[in-house]
Amino acid sequence: MLTKKIGIVGCGNMARGILSGVISCKLVNPKSIFVYDSARKASGAFKSKFGVQAAPDARSVFQRTDVVLLAVKPQNLSDALKGLRESKVRARWLITILAGVPRSKVSLFLPKTVRVVRAMPNLGATVGASYTALCGSDRRAVALAGKIFEACGTVTFVSESKMDLVTVLGGSGPAYFFLLMEILAEQGIKCGLSKKVAETLAVQTAWGAAMLASVSRSASPSMLRRAVTSKGGTTEAAVRCMETMGIRKIFGEAIRRGLKRARQLGRRS
Ligand SMILES: NC(=O)c1ccc[n+]([C@@H]2O[C@H](COP(=O)([O-])OP(=O)(O)OC[C@H]3O[C@@H](n4cnc5c(N)ncnc54)[C@H](OP(=O)(O)O)[C@@H]3O)[C@@H](O)[C@H]2O)c1
Repeated sequence: MLTKKIGIVGCGNMARGILSGVISCKLVNPKSIFVYDSARKASGAFKSKFGVQAAPDARSVFQRTDVVLLAVKPQNLSDALKGLRESKVRARWLITILAGVPRSKVSLFLPKTVRVVRAMPNLGATVGASYTALCGSDRRAVALAGKIFEACGTVTFVSESKMDLVTVLGGSGPAYFFLLMEILAEQGIKCGLSKKVAETLAVQTAWGAAMLASVSRSASPSMLRRAVTSKGGTTEAAVRCMETMGIRKIFGEAIRRGLKRARQLGRRS
């Protein structure tokens, strides 16, 4: 169990997922966690659900804790950290999960004594299955962030120049797989399945494929796909149609647009 006190500013979807992981792994005592959200209702909900303490403002989170997780939207960065630059705070580390915002920009709002780690987890954290990329220059801070995110799934260390890319591929990644499930279910319903059967089929098929890819260490997703694509079969007909109609081009363009948006968010925050 960590002996550090942890703060959270911004009690939304991602903070909930990360907190679920940290608390279910018993990494931190809930009483050592202080949370703040500009909407009282949101921090109150965290207090009732997780047994953490609600703080009256962000400054008091920084004054009562050692490490703070910043989980507001990029456009709320300056508002969330306003007035902290000149404050005396206890916190020595801040972990930001803001899409597109570099560490150097976050540091501008903080006292010089606070070291910043940038993390990009995803919603898988809610079920202990996040993929999180981390970067930072302070070894102790990165190690601490590593422990927190290991409670939520798998952790990788990357250079900051790769953070926007892992944001678009991994941070946003669950949405792409939800979209594929949505499309499979829609097609099932359109062709005569009930909603319940179509949705269960889509989710269970995605789950099975992800499990298989995850346990088959020596076989890449591409090898697994080729293995289930028998010559002249139904899978081959369907996959060939997707390839001919440009599925790879669509994904390439989608990632390019996501990257562009990450850079815009970084500039505008
Ligand atoms: N969602 C994802 O899948 C995902 C994945 C990886 C990283 N991220 C990053 O994680 C961050 C949070 O995303 P999210 O989806 O969890 O957003 P969210 O659900 O909207 O949560 C953000 C919370 O912060 C609150 N807030 C706004 N201004 C604040 C302030 N000045 N002080 C304190 N709290 C404030 C919001 O309140 P209001 O709702 O009242 O504004 C909201 O409760 C984003 O920066 C995003 O880029 C998200």
